[in-house]
Amino acid sequence: MTTTQLPLRARPMAGNTHGTRSAVTCHLRCGDACFKPVPNTSETSYFRDVASTALSRRSLLRGAGALGLAAVATAFVAEADPAHARPAGGGGKLAFAAIDPVPRTVDDVTVPSGYAWNPIIRWGDPILTGAPAFDGAAQSAESQAGQFGYNCDYLDIIPTNGARTRALLVANHEYTNESIMFPADLDAETAIRIAWAAHGLSVVELRRGRKQQPWEYVLGAPLNRRITLETPFSIDGPAAGSELLRTAEDPTGTTVRGTMNNCAGGTTPWGTVLSGEENFNQYFFAAGSSAEEARYGLGAADGRNWRSVDPRWDATSPDYVNEPNRFGWVVEVDPEDPGSTPVKHTAMGRFKHEGANVVVSSDGHVFAYMGDDERFDYVYRFVSKQRYRKGASRAARRHNLRLLSDGDLSVARFAGDGAEDGVSDGTGEWIPLTRDGRSMVPGFTLEEVLVYTRLAADAVQPTKMDRPEDVEPNLVNGRVYVACTNNSDRGREGKEGPTEANPRATNKDGHIVEIVPSRGDHTATTFEWNLLLICGDPSTAGTYFGGYQGEVSPISCPDNLAFDSTGTLWISTDGQPGAIGYNDALHRVTLSGRERGRVEQFLAVPAGAETCGPVIHDKDGSVFVAVQHPGEDGSWEAPQSYFPDYVPAGSKVPDGHFAGPRPSVVQVTRSR
Ligand code: FEO
Ligand code: CA
Ligand code: CA
Ligand code: CA
Repeated sequence: MTTTQLPLRARPMAGNTHGTRSAVTCHLRCGDACFKPVPNTSETSYFRDVASTALSRRSLLRGAGALGLAAVATAFVAEADPAHARPAGGGGKLAFAAIDPVPRTVDDVTVPSGYAWNPIIRWGDPILTGAPAFDGAAQSAESQAGQFGYNCDYLDIIPTNGARTRALLVANHEYTNESIMFPADLDAETAIRIAWAAHGLSVVELRRGRKQQPWEYVLGAPLNRRITLETPFSIDGPAAGSELLRTAEDPTGTTVRGTMNNCAGGTTPWGTVLSGEENFNQYFFAAGSSAEEARYGLGAADGRNWRSVDPRWDATSPDYVNEPNRFGWVVEVDPEDPGSTPVKHTAMGRFKHEGANVVVSSDGHVFAYMGDDERFDYVYRFVSKQRYRKGASRAARRHNLRLLSDGDLSVARFAGDGAEDGVSDGTGEWIPLTRDGRSMVPGFTLEEVLVYTRLAADAVQPTKMDRPEDVEPNLVNGRVYVACTNNSDRGREGKEGPTEANPRATNKDGHIVEIVPSRGDHTATTFEWNLLLICGDPSTAGTYFGGYQGEVSPISCPDNLAFDSTGTLWISTDGQPGAIGYNDALHRVTLSGRERGRVEQFLAVPAGAETCGPVIHDKDGSVFVAVQHPGEDGSWEAPQSYFPDYVPAGSKVPDGHFAGPRPSVVQVTRSR
């Protein structure tokens, strides 16, 4: 085994520049989901015609105090300018002065003064013993299966010893971008097989000499693991074995090869990692003629043509008509057991799972909160039948590994209260879809509720949301936060207009909903809720920052959420370049006290990239992000980003050396 240290960068370099981002991400990651008809054609939102009083009363609250930062932003010059530094903000233990927003042409990571960054691991870095060093021009599926995968999204860094000098890095790999991964003349089958190996998840051991230092990854460590689109999974829960999950390859409906389009996720109290299978539909060639296929966006558009190599991707084949039903689940991986079989949990329902985040309630049951990331889709909650068992005994662990296999699934309905009482914006309830092993939806069997969850939910009038991404409980204040990333279709002709919990038509910047369980208890089936943020450039009308009147950083398209040790919220973004002209970012948001709603930008990722998987170890002075899809618009032959192997603009890239963009996990540590 060898540890692998990548160079430390003390400060951002002057970035090379290129054009603005295009729709490559939309095409490769989501199958152009936002350019296609909205799959939810149901008349479901219970309060669909309620006028948006919450938005109008909030807009009045925005004062001139928010204007300052936007003016500063236009003067930004790649490197943090001490003249613009502001004092460290109110929330959280990490001391930093918010950086200015970074123009979308800067091809580098930008961090606050006093911090340095370096990549821990990059796409193609070898993980498993025997895996070769990355050589993009000679890549093979075998090499990739032993190397860190592409487009890392969910991320956790889990310390594994008391001295905090050892840790596990767990990341998933959402999708591939063949145009920049390979030379254009690579044969199609090789490219497809590499892509399968570049999907999935990675588990990698980390080491360091002492606390506060940057981590290094350990090549060939015992717990290192790659999970790909060829790794055997088991299917468990009430729908396992269902006719709806059987194929020619798996007549039992209980096993499946691989996982893909893994977006966000969550780490459980028993040490496993959950990951959401999101835009799985785009990988299949399907007839798209049934209501079920249509509701999940399955159709004949199949740009990857994977069926040319493996017939299971052809859902028009009688042998594989159910293969799409075997994706769209929450998967659970035990990173401490590299020999374990990862699981797909049917009890948690099937939709375009962004992720799943777990909290143990006062009575010991496990509550998982989940978003279905599609315009006008829903927020869900799963409650385990069994109770969480404390302790690290083998028996407790075995018990806890079954918690997500059985339980009740429900979907959220939000109602406005129309009252300006200063307490909440409304109330809500969790509408049951399954309970005690039975379907609660007339006309749907239990298996149908779980496999066709979207259609079952349509029948019970939940609230259509603006693309709910991370839905995450805050373990300090007991509330749950919903990142609604955007929905430019809301209010368009023939589409649902603003509602109380989704208050903005043509919502290009997104918003954050804060759920307050009744009695402060997750076991309640009702809740109150608030709009915490209505995102955007603070100088524009209609934005809202929790009532905070001071300077805030511009923020748009909130995606992944995390909390630091004080329960302060951190938000990473996906789409700021197109929405407000700045590189995607990581922001801290104060949740309590007089500075509630204060947004402070901590970092920005390079041009074309999205900030994913934030992990905040504030007591350790560290922040980690996954830098996904840098330079997404380029090609192998003409890269549009050189992150993280920076090549100064205008200089020649050495012959035979691939210096194009590599999705990476970046750590930010104190430099003084
Ligand atoms: Fe993969 Fe919901 O973003
Ligand atoms: Ca996401
Ligand atoms: Ca998260
Ligand atoms: Ca996203």
